[in-house]
Amino acid sequence: MTQFHIQKLCPILGAEVHGIDLSNSIDDETFASLYKAWLDNDGLLVFKNQCLTPDQQVAFSRRFGPLFGEADQFQETVLKYLLPGQPAIFRVSNKLKDGEPQGRPKAGNYWHSDVSFRAKPAQASLLYAIEVPASGGDTLFVNMYAAYSELSSGMKDMIGNLRAIHDFAVAAENSGTYTADQLLQTDFDGQNRHIHPVVITHPETKRQALYVNPGFTAAIDGFASAESEPLLNMLYNHALRHEFIYRHRWEVGDLTVWDNRSLMHYAVVDYEDSRYLHRTTVIAETPSQ
Ligand code: OGA
Ligand code: MN
Repeated sequence: MTQFHIQKLCPILGAEVHGIDLSNSIDDETFASLYKAWLDNDGLLVFKNQCLTPDQQVAFSRRFGPLFGEADQFQETVLKYLLPGQPAIFRVSNKLKDGEPQGRPKAGNYWHSDVSFRAKPAQASLLYAIEVPASGGDTLFVNMYAAYSELSSGMKDMIGNLRAIHDFAVAAENSGTYTADQLLQTDFDGQNRHIHPVVITHPETKRQALYVNPGFTAAIDGFASAESEPLLNMLYNHALRHEFIYRHRWEVGDLTVWDNRSLMHYAVVDYEDSRYLHRTTVIAETPSQ
């Protein structure tokens, strides 16, 4: 068992981990206490000063569960951004090399929960910073347990049995970050559209969280759009209170691990310097109410 030290990042969510070198293999007991710390801090851990090869990042990520790129495919749009030779790593970057993008530019420049448009969405996402701008390119995280628990009992009753349609096409159409030639017809095939409960119970913590997001949620199932849009917008405005948000300012060597079942995140695109990160994505169980 490796002793590590945890320091809260802010009152609402997240903690920094000190004393762990993820390039070494982590024994089961240490992993179990890291996993507990991850759940206890509402689903965000930041490991500082790491130096990880792609294979080391993949090996650590597999401890959380099966990975996109191995156990299931990523959506078509991101396939060209996978790291050659390591299909479990999705590259996020604004860099070009010989005219070729080195990763997906502006990935996640909208509030979302990774892959929520799939029957089995993302559980953990692990994002490792290799190159970051001197300033800018922060990532925001919002606590969806807190967003749910701070709703009135009347609103909780009203939304408790609702379901929402999640559809990759929402990001494609609304985000402005996908150009027409980045999109492929297969992105819109049935597997990138799924209906999930509006309120989910986290399978491990058993806590309830709001599970709708502006990036991928198309509508409340069974509602007219004139009914669905105001309700979703009210929930987003409520969830995005400043008090529920942590803003991560990246340093090279940071590995963040976030839980897509309890957090939404947003990549701020306000920089021109090079930014290059490696993401691994763990496949979740189908969310349930
Ligand atoms: C992602 C994402 C955030 C960032 O890759 O899923 O949302 O800050 N990235 O790059
Ligand atoms: Mn994302």
